[in-house]
Amino acid sequence: MITVSILGAGNRGTNVYGKIINEQKDKFQIVSICDVNQEKLEYSANLFGVEKENLFTNEDDFFDKKRSDLLLITTLDKDHVRQAKKAIDKGYHILLEKPISASEEECLELLNYAKKYNKIIMVCHVLRYTVAVEKLKELLDSNIIGKLVLIDHIEQVAYWHQCHSYVRGNWRVTEDTAPMIMAKSCHDMDLLQYFVDSRCKTVSSYGNLEFFKKENMPKNATERCMDCPLKDDCAFSAKKIYLDDFVKNNGKGRWCAKTLVIGEVTEEKLLKALATTNYGKCVFDCDNDVVDNQSVMMEFENGVKATFRMTAFTQKGGRQIHFHGTLGEIYYNETENTITINVFGKPEEVIDITKLTTDLSGHGGGDKRMIGKLYEAISDPNVEFDTSLEKSIESHLMCIAIEKSRLDNGKLKIVH
Ligand SMILES: NC(=O)c1ccc[n+]([C@@H]2O[C@H](COP(=O)([O-])OP(=O)(O)OC[C@H]3O[C@@H](n4cnc5c(N)ncnc54)[C@H](O)[C@@H]3O)[C@@H](O)[C@H]2O)c1
Repeated sequence: MITVSILGAGNRGTNVYGKIINEQKDKFQIVSICDVNQEKLEYSANLFGVEKENLFTNEDDFFDKKRSDLLLITTLDKDHVRQAKKAIDKGYHILLEKPISASEEECLELLNYAKKYNKIIMVCHVLRYTVAVEKLKELLDSNIIGKLVLIDHIEQVAYWHQCHSYVRGNWRVTEDTAPMIMAKSCHDMDLLQYFVDSRCKTVSSYGNLEFFKKENMPKNATERCMDCPLKDDCAFSAKKIYLDDFVKNNGKGRWCAKTLVIGEVTEEKLLKALATTNYGKCVFDCDNDVVDNQSVMMEFENGVKATFRMTAFTQKGGRQIHFHGTLGEIYYNETENTITINVFGKPEEVIDITKLTTDLSGHGGGDKRMIGKLYEAISDPNVEFDTSLEKSIESHLMCIAIEKSRLDNGKLKIVH
């Protein structure tokens, strides 16, 4: 039985990992929670049955002593390194949300701090734990398409996800969180260097905030969507993205509605959130500065080249990754859950990911599978896992160099 504390009982801490862990009562027990928001703290405590004396609204009080075997650090981006160092001092196994930090100095500082640490630090690069990524890695390593030469990778954010997280939400201002390439796409950089099996050497990038800014606000639009004459026509209106979607889908709409409220989503709670929080604001009248489109070129130490594009301007979300090898191609379509293999001169083969697993919920099944691996790794020190601090820093260094290049009009930057 592994005892667990949650630091940051928000969407990831409570709604995702907390719930997954709480369903496995034979393996885990949640014993302590810390969150600066009293309402979220109480909701999570009730959900997981945590005693009052083990609830904290202040991290200093929480870190007074060690409270469990495992600590989930699921606070916002800027808190991770400070809290991870405190957790190391107390001797916790740590599940650390990504990004570790958007600062190279902080990433390396934590890596150094954890050098001789003999407990688990697992970074939540959850996509590595999906069945789809496992299959892709297996195919690439089998050399079925010969020597890998080039990868073309596109991340379709979807217009409503961009509006929710990167225009109205937590990740809209670089200074408060991290640049888009880190906040959203460090998963993609992590996957690229994992697939290529080599460190990234150089990068070059262009990107900007093209659309979600004041100069594009329609003349008759208002500051808050629920008061706006365009609320039923504007694709980006908060009424359409949250409320109408919730009603149309009988309460089973987009996941983003869940992050506006505490506990069960209701029409009443959504209306209140739209009237009082940033999530009810016009997308052309927020203080966002992160990019809504970006392209990157990369060269790896083993000679493989890759291009990466991130765009807000898609109807559906999902990655599409096209691998070009000397003897064939592999095309991964995350939106359709398919992997298409074309070995030159042979018939096409299509793998349906839904036939390989029954559970694609939560990052294509990655959230649950990562918690499974975490349990194994804590229980048996000989179990290896793919998202250690050391391995995860690699994608962060790529993102940091990419952002430097973007801010320097695409100038080539050296990662290693
Ligand atoms: N691995 C992934 O794919 C993935 C997906 C989404 C988000 N994330 C990352 O997970 C982290 C959490 O995101 P989220 O969506 O759960 O955000 P959230 O806002 O829902 O949750 C963060 C929680 O931390 C609490 N908090 C803030 N400061 C605190 C402090 N000093 N001490 C204790 N609690 C504090 C907040 O009150 C909130 O409840 C972020 O770093 C985010 O970038 C990762």
